[in-house]
Amino acid sequence: MTLSGDATLVLPEFDAPPADPVVLLAEWFAGAVSREVSEPFAMVLATADDRGRPSSRVVLFKEFADGGLVFAGSSTSRKGRDLAANPQAAANFHWRETLQQITVVGTVQKVAPEASDALFADRPRAAQAAVIASEQSTPLDDESALHGRAAALADSDEPLSRPEAWTGYLLVPEEVEFWQGKPNRLHRRLRYVRTGEGWLAERLQP
Ligand SMILES: Cc1cc2nc3c(=O)[nH]c(=O)nc-3n(C[C@H](O)[C@H](O)[C@H](O)COP(=O)(O)O)c2cc1C
Repeated sequence: MTLSGDATLVLPEFDAPPADPVVLLAEWFAGAVSREVSEPFAMVLATADDRGRPSSRVVLFKEFADGGLVFAGSSTSRKGRDLAANPQAAANFHWRETLQQITVVGTVQKVAPEASDALFADRPRAAQAAVIASEQSTPLDDESALHGRAAALADSDEPLSRPEAWTGYLLVPEEVEFWQGKPNRLHRRLRYVRTGEGWLAERLQP
């Protein structure tokens, strides 16, 4: 075994999968939090542009809504431009300490403006200021000017409102795979695929 992490975790769901993978996702997040996995909500989000060129980056999973996973970022960023051209994405969570991985593939849509406002309102003021001060993913000419803008906003008495470009996104799963690392590469995999009749769960070879 070359992977580090605890391979002794007992996960009966591989033998008795629940009907809905979103329910299992919620259980896995709760388990990751209680086992003190580091950054359990950090997910690698892969998108592709209109020519099929992929890119990926880490974003934070914020909450479940409407059967999907919500994350937030700027619609003018690379991921935002990719998603406008090609609203399909894959997300990957990796929890090294417990040898767990989750892969989600699906379509992405913006959440309603009021839901984005609520996500923005939830951020600490300094993080709101940074969002307003920065045009995510555009070239940076002057870092101290950026910091100055962010500090001035954070220190002001003005209420800070969400820039239109900053939005919540909803990733609606078409496929969800749960993976658990086991010794001798005999890992366990459980994949859900959305069908016309609901979710189909099947085990995959490692
Ligand atoms: C742990 C972690 C969490 C992050 N969370 C977010 C996030 O929730 N939203 C976001 O837009 N960027 C987040 N970032 C920054 C992104 O990885 C990325 O730099 C940014 O979104 C611009 O990516 P893009 O140019 O490909 O769109 C996070 C980075 C890390 C390492």
